[in-house]
Amino acid sequence: MIEEAAKLLARSRFAIAFTGAGISAESRVPTFRGSNGLWKTHRPEELATPEAFRRDPHLVWSFYKWRMELIGKARPNPAHYALAELERMGILKAVITQNVDDLHREAGTKNLIELHGNIFRVRCTSCDYKENLKESGRLEEFLKEKDLPKCPECGSLLRPDVVWFGEPLPRKALEEAFRLAERADLVLVIGTSGVVYPAAYIPQIVKETGGKVIEVNPEESGITPIADVFLRCPAGEAMEKLMERIEGLVR
Ligand code: APR
Ligand code: ZN
Repeated sequence: MIEEAAKLLARSRFAIAFTGAGISAESRVPTFRGSNGLWKTHRPEELATPEAFRRDPHLVWSFYKWRMELIGKARPNPAHYALAELERMGILKAVITQNVDDLHREAGTKNLIELHGNIFRVRCTSCDYKENLKESGRLEEFLKEKDLPKCPECGSLLRPDVVWFGEPLPRKALEEAFRLAERADLVLVIGTSGVVYPAAYIPQIVKETGGKVIEVNPEESGITPIADVFLRCPAGEAMEKLMERIEGLVR
């Protein structure tokens, strides 16, 4: 199976990757729905919806600060680095991710589409103020702050710049992702349960336009039925084996 996947990737003209929380599981960032998923112990409707934020901004901010703290300690794993290497080799043209953990950017991926936002970015609930706390170096002090974070421009409440359930995805990112999926002749799907839309349309668009689907996941998912190759194993292991084979094919 790895051999077949490596051949398809090496032969592809426009390959993209579509990733979910599972690619960061080996960086010790909890997934949402897998066996020890976050939504088993936390209720998304109480934390990741606009209503929850309106009802109890302190609770929602404490959840997101806990995740920012946790994810701030995470480092990219071999699967993230493999995708950055495939981009440098000219095989992978883009990574479309549902993850908000910034690990693809940190691993060196250049053409990155973040469909669900970025947990280190905050934005104002009234004006168009935005700040990436990792880039501005203010993450530490922000996490220590006990009061609700306020916009330095207009004083309104700040919120995490991530997409909550029931909210639209960032239009530009979604349009770019669909354009890439229509153009792609192969999509490498890693670590997603494939049940959250519209993101989960991405692999289907590649399939419908005649492209190949390679899936990496230790469990079956909503994508498995359309996968041409299903690598039933963790992302780190699969990507390391894939890179060994690819290097041999494209020399
Ligand atoms: N390697 C690869 N895949 C893994 C690994 C691993 N080491 N460990 C777990 N997985 C798989 C699980 O089997 C599961 O299919 O990763 C998938 C994670 O699925 P979810 O937790 O549902 O994450 P995701 O698909 O990214 O969720 C989509 O839902 O909660 C919202 O906005 C949030 O972006 C998220 C969206
Ligand atoms: Zn403001």
